[in-house]
Amino acid sequence: MMRDGNPKAVLLADYRAPDYRTEEVDLRFDIRDGVTEVTSDLRVVRSVEAQAQAPLRLDGEALELVSVSIDGVELGSNEYRLDDSSLTLFDLPGEARIRIVTRIHPEQNTALEGLYKSGGMFCTQCEAEGFRRITFYQDRPDVLARFTTTIIADAGSYPVLLSNGNPVADVELDDGRRSVTWHDPFPKPSYLFALVAGDLALLEDRFTTGSGREVTLRIYSEPHNIGHCDFAMASLKRAMRWDEQTFGREYDLDIFMIVAVEDFNMGAMENKGLNLFNTSAVLASKDTATDATYQRVEGIIGHEYFHNWSGNRVTCRDWFQLSLKEGFTVFRDAEFTSDLHSRTVKRIEDVTFLRAVQFAEDSGPMAHPVRPASYLEISNFYTPTVYEKGAEVVRMLHTLLGAERFRAGTDLYFQRHDGSAATTDDFVAAMAAVSDVDLTQFQRWYSQAGTPVVDVSARWADGCLTLSLAQHCPATPGQPDKLPFHIPVLLGLLDGDGIDLDCDALELRCSDPVAVSRDPHTGRTSLLLHLRSARVELSVSGPSARPAVSFLRGFSAPVRVNFPRSTGELEFLVLHDSDGFARWDALQTLVSIEVERLLRFGGAPQEGLLELFGALLKLAIDAPDDAEQKCLLAAMLTLPDENYLLEQLRGIDVLALCDVLDRMRAAIAGRYVDGWQQLFDANRARGAFSPEPVDMARRTLKQVALSYLGQALPGAAAGALIEAEYRGADNLTDRRAALLQLTRAAHVDGALREALLADFGTRWRHEALVMNQWFSLQASSPLNGAAQVAKLVSHEAFDARNPNKLRAVYGAFAQLNARGFHATDGSGYAFLAQALVALDASNPQVAARLAIPLTRWRRYDPGRQRLMRGALERVAEAADLSPDLYEIVTKSLAEPQA
Ligand code: TRP
Ligand code: ZN
Repeated sequence: MMRDGNPKAVLLADYRAPDYRTEEVDLRFDIRDGVTEVTSDLRVVRSVEAQAQAPLRLDGEALELVSVSIDGVELGSNEYRLDDSSLTLFDLPGEARIRIVTRIHPEQNTALEGLYKSGGMFCTQCEAEGFRRITFYQDRPDVLARFTTTIIADAGSYPVLLSNGNPVADVELDDGRRSVTWHDPFPKPSYLFALVAGDLALLEDRFTTGSGREVTLRIYSEPHNIGHCDFAMASLKRAMRWDEQTFGREYDLDIFMIVAVEDFNMGAMENKGLNLFNTSAVLASKDTATDATYQRVEGIIGHEYFHNWSGNRVTCRDWFQLSLKEGFTVFRDAEFTSDLHSRTVKRIEDVTFLRAVQFAEDSGPMAHPVRPASYLEISNFYTPTVYEKGAEVVRMLHTLLGAERFRAGTDLYFQRHDGSAATTDDFVAAMAAVSDVDLTQFQRWYSQAGTPVVDVSARWADGCLTLSLAQHCPATPGQPDKLPFHIPVLLGLLDGDGIDLDCDALELRCSDPVAVSRDPHTGRTSLLLHLRSARVELSVSGPSARPAVSFLRGFSAPVRVNFPRSTGELEFLVLHDSDGFARWDALQTLVSIEVERLLRFGGAPQEGLLELFGALLKLAIDAPDDAEQKCLLAAMLTLPDENYLLEQLRGIDVLALCDVLDRMRAAIAGRYVDGWQQLFDANRARGAFSPEPVDMARRTLKQVALSYLGQALPGAAAGALIEAEYRGADNLTDRRAALLQLTRAAHVDGALREALLADFGTRWRHEALVMNQWFSLQASSPLNGAAQVAKLVSHEAFDARNPNKLRAVYGAFAQLNARGFHATDGSGYAFLAQALVALDASNPQVAARLAIPLTRWRRYDPGRQRLMRGALERVAEAADLSPDLYEIVTKSLAEPQA
């Protein structure tokens, strides 16, 4: 049941430009215990297209209205209209000065949208529609205004008072209070507004831009965390330099600030000049962050910084255009990571995520296009489709145009739309304007949901290789039929020694366009097929013998590929392909085929696959100290997880899948015990911890070795090895890796498991981020069911108001603990459902996100489908559901049962 009537869908087709522009906003926050008074002075101008009688509707939620005046005259309560979500003003002159005074209660704000209190600090989160919880305003991204913000608060409790732009005034008031004023010269939409008030420590640095401007860089955090901000600062400077060199984008204000916030719904937020970060996305030190966290911090620092151009200088016309800033910025941060680290490894990580999570979304109840056409609650559309698939769409443009023209396209886009609100059509139009590629059909990537499937077959006859390709896209909610996509298919041809054929020397025939593409680094050539038709044949003459096909190199399009091939050809690609991504991908395919076979017919894993792992293990043992090689081999030696395989093989018994994966892991582990020991020894630490790529790569390989050794050794020996690793570790990565094995290996003594977990929990009880790991390791352990995980929630370090803690327990349980979550008695589903109802009352955004694993019921067996639907129905029956959770649950229950 919904809070007050069912929410109405917002439609892209209903978009209308606003009747009024707000040009200037002057905000005054008077912060006192328990209540904050907000005075907003607006200068609004009616647009020439609007009717003279047009009313001005301002959004507002959960606000206490104190007074409204127009041009200095206060309105009586019969002179405006006020309801639950808006304040409407009538009979405005063409240009008006409006003053609105409201009261809000940040201390009671548990939804973490608008102005709220986290620990001792006040902070804001306005994207997407949080500003309307601060004051009445046209809270839409196509209204761009210049903001001036004054914050008045107790000088002792809140010595740091921040907002967007540059500081312009700082006045001590006589009652122990202080008033600080900030002015942001860049017009911006309200979702980019930010304010912080607190007792914060500061790390300061500076950066000189390419054109010689000096910028002050500041990172603020609670005092006990300030020692963990250096890595973020270094990352910020790398990001600033990289954006100048790669995209020609310079920073534009005199100050750039980041504030670390403990209670935060998402990773971070790109508010103009004042980025707010979840502590988990900014703090990094050897004892509180894993190697994965270091990489995440660098990536998110880059992401939010890059938004300054892709999002802030050029923003979105409406929220349907969200991918305009998010897809593009994810592409930009992925390029940043690829340039600084290994391009191949980054690509493997991103494709793994896309296939396990975005493909699942595309085939589930919430499937939507990269540019959605409707929504009930916009917070639910900050999705893997808008972000990660959106980034794939930008990547395809990069592939189709080539690096140089792509850069010309982004230059033109920034030049055309600087200071304004744009659409994804504008983005594609800029790309089309600088190239001769017709992007009309390509636009379907923005409007059609679902993951296209490409069926491929190859035949070799009379010295000619013919590839037949066919594409189709499954139906998604509201889109039964799809038109063909414009799919860039990058493919290479290898001779019997694994050497790339020179594509320029081949004779090609195809009714869709094909080009030869040359890798700028290696000179290696590939074919770039513009697959536009529903089906097409590509024939290649010239090779003297049948070549092996390296298909969809670098994952050149976000599609599923069905290309039935012999295991011999796939094994050849695993060992010889010059494209690292394609090597890894061939192995994924081999493992999927084997998993499917074991599920159907049982028995032992096939000898050939075990030998292939043996060959890769040998390569890993002999690998030089090269981060890319080590990370690539570590990725290949790791079996794909259940989430990826469930997307490949739908409707299967998930516990049977877990059993098959365990058996494969055990077989690979048991066959090569000595080899895993050698790999482990070869990658032991060579001195004190460092976050350098080579050292990270060594830890990654050592962790892979430990995971197999932990399985292969008898209980006592495995326990001893894990304990030695835990006690000897000088960093969180190694410590966590040891605990991870302990929480996975059932044959190791339970008393040791309890002892080390207790040791860790006591030693790090004051480090919130480390305790998140402690919670998540236990919630994701296959040894724990709902009953054990329920105990974590009553631990003193748990805090149901903190989104990181909620994700560490409920998120890890539902996404990473297949055995516990999918327990046959339905206890896992019931546990999550009951938590969701309670959580929805305090934090709807987080509740809606944590509900997603339940909505995937269609991919499980009939018994589980029933149990999952039952759990969703209990959520749906709860009183006062938020629009967030309501949308997710009702859309999922509306799906037809298979
Ligand atoms: N724009 C933010 C990003 O870069 C996303 C974000 C942060 C967000 N906080 C949010 C979205 C709260 C919705 C609600 O990716
Ligand atoms: Zn973003």
